Amino acid sequence: MNVNLLIHRLKRLLLSRLPSRLWLVLTGIGVALSIVFYAAIAFSQQPVVLSMLMPALDAASARVVVEEFEAQNPNIRLNLVEGPAASNLIEDLYTSSFLLGDSPYDLVVMDVVWLPKFAAAGWLVDMTDQIPESELADFLPADLEGGRYQGRLYRLPFRTDVGLLYYRTDLLEQAGLQPPETFDDLLTASRTIQEAGEAQWGYVWQGRQYEGLVAMFVEVLSGAGGFWVNPETLEVGLDRPETLKAIEFLRNTVAQGVSPPGVTTYQEDEARRLFQSGNVVFMRNWPYAYPLGNEDGSAIQGRFDIRPMVHAPGQDGAGCLGGWGLGISHTTPHPEEALQVVRFFAGPQGQKLTALANGHLPTIRSLYNDPEIVAQYPYYPDLLEVLERGVLRPPVAQYAQASDILQRYLSAALTGRMNPEAAMKSAADETRRLLEAGAAAS
Ligand code: GLC
Repeated sequence: MNVNLLIHRLKRLLLSRLPSRLWLVLTGIGVALSIVFYAAIAFSQQPVVLSMLMPALDAASARVVVEEFEAQNPNIRLNLVEGPAASNLIEDLYTSSFLLGDSPYDLVVMDVVWLPKFAAAGWLVDMTDQIPESELADFLPADLEGGRYQGRLYRLPFRTDVGLLYYRTDLLEQAGLQPPETFDDLLTASRTIQEAGEAQWGYVWQGRQYEGLVAMFVEVLSGAGGFWVNPETLEVGLDRPETLKAIEFLRNTVAQGVSPPGVTTYQEDEARRLFQSGNVVFMRNWPYAYPLGNEDGSAIQGRFDIRPMVHAPGQDGAGCLGGWGLGISHTTPHPEEALQVVRFFAGPQGQKLTALANGHLPTIRSLYNDPEIVAQYPYYPDLLEVLERGVLRPPVAQYAQASDILQRYLSAALTGRMNPEAAMKSAADETRRLLEAGAAAS
């Protein structure tokens, strides 16, 4: 008997035995099952979407890396949520999303200073056994260390940062001056060039009450021979005379008309835009400002250089070490895909893309000698040395609160709302109480 005949007989048999309503119901179930079946197939082919929050400016810079990653991994889509520019505000947003329970972020884009807190709170996936040691061998040690907590790896750095002094080569040359070494050199050179009518302002820096203020301050503090918190002993140095010397330098910049009064409201990009307008001799900023200053249409294209931060006589100039990395949120339903993103962003290909496109500093040593990168940024190899001499903000689990204390009192001292000595006495006392409470609790 052929198949058609068999089906035909079966149908007739069923039709004759089953009441027609039941037949209809069975057909309906069949159709429904097929829909579910095909929908499941279609759904399983939908890309996984992973979300991460980052400062808006950094999200824009990350586009080149995202595009390449998505092209290579069509099963994964990245949703970059743009947040405010200040690192501490992004940290607040991540923190509240974790405290509320079900964080909407699969990946955590982290500033180096948040790691101890996030890891201690259990918000991150431990990646120690998921990334082969060989993949980590060429990372700059300080950056890699910044991703570890109690010996376990929770964050892979995809960009390092170091505070630099930008200076106008043309203006200094014209005035017959050498680039400044000391705080006083910088003030004097600024005033000379301002008085000659060659520049409206001498120096722009980050004076707003936010994380960038303390990043800038640790440089001046270290250049004055002082310190904030010793991470080994938890000693606090904020009420020592060196701290007051550091504050005095910053207050002098405004008092002497070298810095605009509005500098106490500036973040990185306000300083960068003013410097790039051509009316300023010196600027403190991170390396991202370099390629922007040299872009077509910039008033300072080819007319500036970078060097280590100024300091007090007899001291060394040191830049603050910053930087960003990626970790995996403990709430993500897609930890494997998230790990692929971490490895790509922090891997040689991702880091090279963002270095070429944005001038971000890689955390992989060999990239500092990559011919394509060096051709574009001849100063990269020299930066390795500046990075090695960098100054860290204290890597303690209570960092966010310690930074908040310093931000508040320092801002009060810089804007004249408090006398610097009283402000730093209070800042030191509060920081000591915070660290003692933390030590007692652990
Ligand atoms: C840069 C640094 C980061 C720092 C921030 C302060 O993004 O990489 O470490 O906290 O600036 O504004």
